[in-house]
Amino acid sequence: MKGPTCYLNGKFLPLAQANISVLDRGFLFGEGIYEVIPVFSGLLFRLEKHLQRLQQSLSAIELSSPLTNNALTQVLQELMHRNHSIGSNMSLYLQITRGAPSQRNHVYQNDSITTVFAMAQSLTQPNITEGVKAITLADTRWSLSCIKSTSLLANVILKQQASKQGAAEALLIREGCLTEGAASNVFVVKNQVISTPPKSNFLLGGITRDVLIELLQRQEYPACLEQTVTEQALQEADEIWITSSTKEILPITVLNKKPIGDGQPGPIWHQTNELYQNYKQATITRGSHDTR
Ligand code: PDD
Repeated sequence: MKGPTCYLNGKFLPLAQANISVLDRGFLFGEGIYEVIPVFSGLLFRLEKHLQRLQQSLSAIELSSPLTNNALTQVLQELMHRNHSIGSNMSLYLQITRGAPSQRNHVYQNDSITTVFAMAQSLTQPNITEGVKAITLADTRWSLSCIKSTSLLANVILKQQASKQGAAEALLIREGCLTEGAASNVFVVKNQVISTPPKSNFLLGGITRDVLIELLQRQEYPACLEQTVTEQALQEADEIWITSSTKEILPITVLNKKPIGDGQPGPIWHQTNELYQNYKQATITRGSHDTR
């Protein structure tokens, strides 16, 4: 069987044949920016927002993409078509690094050729009838978690700790307050009010998080507020959900081995998930990129 096709520096090629230099700063320093863009029924969902965030992260590390947003869009669409055999739902991974200078040196010169890599992976929606388990852990990451950087060692360690304890996600606590998950944003519900931590340098401004806030704020009920969530408020929540491009809205039903609410996905999650799924379906039906 023909393996997956990826994109590397101007060429589409089999993933197994894609190589980069060992001097690539992405390899040596984990110095790179990435995006994960979901494709639902052949539609690149919220592509413009992902490209916008990509540009923000790139400028935070003084790196510019050799491809314009139009060119990146064409690459991603072509990648989607070339990998159609994995299904019409997939996640597209896009990574840009500063490339390979002739020597290892912490200081960068921006004189090497930028590496642009993209690949497709199949996307299967998690089974959410029962929700998933999470644990809380101290947020040991650096203070620029708003940059979507490939330096993910702290996230990897945190996620691995959660996995060892049978949990799907680690919810991170910094100075007594919730920031986000190791690979997701977090929403909590208490007395029918939805809260999510406000954007700051300590968390990634998730595209799914923004969609949800936008959809919820178009309605009068339930209220959705971007506000600080203390560790105590998290533990006393009626409902907890995590959001990401690949997980969509996933209810946490057990936190630190204790049930959240009655240990089942809650009514506000059901309502919000329906709102999100309807919006997603309408966007797919419109059949064009969702640029709002
Ligand atoms: N991660 N926060 C962190 C630390 C993340 O890694 C992610 C997503 C999110 C959610 O962002 P979005 O809704 O834009 O996907 C929040 C991706 C999916 C990943 O690293 O695979």
